Amino acid sequence: MNLAPSLLSADFGDLRAEAREVEPLAAYFHIDVMDGHFVDNLTIGPPVVNSLRKGLSRPFDIHLMIDHPLAYASRFEIHPGDIITFHIESADDLDHTIEAIHRTGAEVGISLRPKTPIETVLPYLDRVDLILVMSVEPGFGGQAFMPEALERIRFLRREIGERVITIEVDGGIGVKNIRDVVDAGADLIVAGSAIFNHHDRAAAMSDLLAAAGQSVRLRS
Ligand code: DX5
Ligand code: ZN
Repeated sequence: MNLAPSLLSADFGDLRAEAREVEPLAAYFHIDVMDGHFVDNLTIGPPVVNSLRKGLSRPFDIHLMIDHPLAYASRFEIHPGDIITFHIESADDLDHTIEAIHRTGAEVGISLRPKTPIETVLPYLDRVDLILVMSVEPGFGGQAFMPEALERIRFLRREIGERVITIEVDGGIGVKNIRDVVDAGADLIVAGSAIFNHHDRAAAMSDLLAAAGQSVRLRS
């Protein structure tokens, strides 16, 4: 399993420095894009995300919590290995949105709010690279993990079978529950407050990896 630190809990006035601090143990930077409609919060969009890239080497895991992913996906500058994830509950046509994201060169992820029936994603399994299971209502960092997510992860893992699809989980994950999430079948773990609320981010990430049963190794 891999960690994707969520920059939502970082200092937005110093994003690049914050990102560099977590980079050695991160597989991706998880970047939460919110429009104030789809969720009750506003964050950053393409101009900030695109200018953040300089000096960073990890791919971006862009989590779109917006009504119109089709209109905005192509405005992100994509580098090899980047992921763009949009929500199945967004207003746009899902097939067109999947195609539009693929055209950017990014891998495609679909996410579901905690109350959206998990079966709704099954028709798309052959066309996406990643499924993002939300374990909190999207919008804010620092919320409590919803344990119902574990059964949803197990269900997806069974349905995915031999397909190469990453299961990512986002919301409320910390040292107390990361092992349960990984054991349920998750590959990519988002953590915001569990990393950035600590002064020593590297130690917080090492603790998360150790709690997940992983050996800690710095990435080159
Ligand atoms: C919430 C965002 C998450 C958020 C997670 O809507 O999608 O990525 O940063 O924060 P924590 O890990 O604090 O729950
Ligand atoms: Zn997120």
